[in-house]
Amino acid sequence: MPLLPEIKGRSLIEPEDFSLLEMENLFSLAEKIENNKDYLRESCRGRLLASLFFEPSTRTRLSFEAAMLRLGGSCLGFADPGSSSAAKGESLADTIRMAASYADAIVMRSPKEGAALLASRYSEAPVINAGDGGHHHPTQTLTDLLTVRQLLGRIESFTIGFCGDLKFGRTVHSLAKALARYKNIKMIFISPLELVIPEYIKGILKKNNVEFNETESLEKSVGEIDVLYMTRVQRERFFNEDDYIRLKDTYVLNTEKMSAAKEKMIILHPLPRVNEIAVEIDTDPRAAYFKQAKYGMYVRMALLASILGAL
Ligand code: CP
Repeated sequence: MPLLPEIKGRSLIEPEDFSLLEMENLFSLAEKIENNKDYLRESCRGRLLASLFFEPSTRTRLSFEAAMLRLGGSCLGFADPGSSSAAKGESLADTIRMAASYADAIVMRSPKEGAALLASRYSEAPVINAGDGGHHHPTQTLTDLLTVRQLLGRIESFTIGFCGDLKFGRTVHSLAKALARYKNIKMIFISPLELVIPEYIKGILKKNNVEFNETESLEKSVGEIDVLYMTRVQRERFFNEDDYIRLKDTYVLNTEKMSAAKEKMIILHPLPRVNEIAVEIDTDPRAAYFKQAKYGMYVRMALLASILGAL
């Protein structure tokens, strides 16, 4: 009997496109795959994934492609839009129509907010949003939640601190929205005034009665936090280079700051990291960001197998 018939053929544009139960099923499937590398090994043989990346990526693109190959499927696509006909002025709608006529599913990243939603309206194949500008990154959220579930043993009753660029950080927006559906989560938003969390995210939290506060100080709040979610200040989202330079090193997590943190706190980061986590932290047992990136491949395997109806 198929495990996740509900997800088959569906697009994933925002984190709440899947119910909590569907997400739990995906996490269980990802854990099964992690524990048995042969599970679902050939399940996607003969299926094609188009990966269309209009913006740079290491983890998301490579983990999706690794996921599809590990499931026995194949990949086509581009990592550089300059090598596609987008460079000649082809519209996103036409590019997507073409990709959907060649492939069984499309994973795409764009610098434009709403691009994945638009693409899904022109696509006969399911579309997975791999990041649309400063808006959302739902498969990073699946990765983050799976990591918390594995390392804390639950997705409820903890305090999460989001630190860094909370204005443009799509991984923060998606994760905060997703966590608003879980029980007893407290959020602390740590950012400079110029990069505070958007009002619409705060509105969602208020509507869901999520307790949150905002601060500029990592030092003063780190001791309360169970999950610290560090983020990069993103040069590519700034209009003004001087503003980026002024803000880029506002927060640097180092051994000194970690001395005030809980012994069991976990440190997440969607990566790439620039300066915001000192390399000395990588050997701290609380650093979970490389493990997190690996969980990303397992949850994307679970997602692709489910969307393609390969279970
Ligand atoms: N976390 C993440 O989206 O990383 P990439 O930009 O390398 O894909």
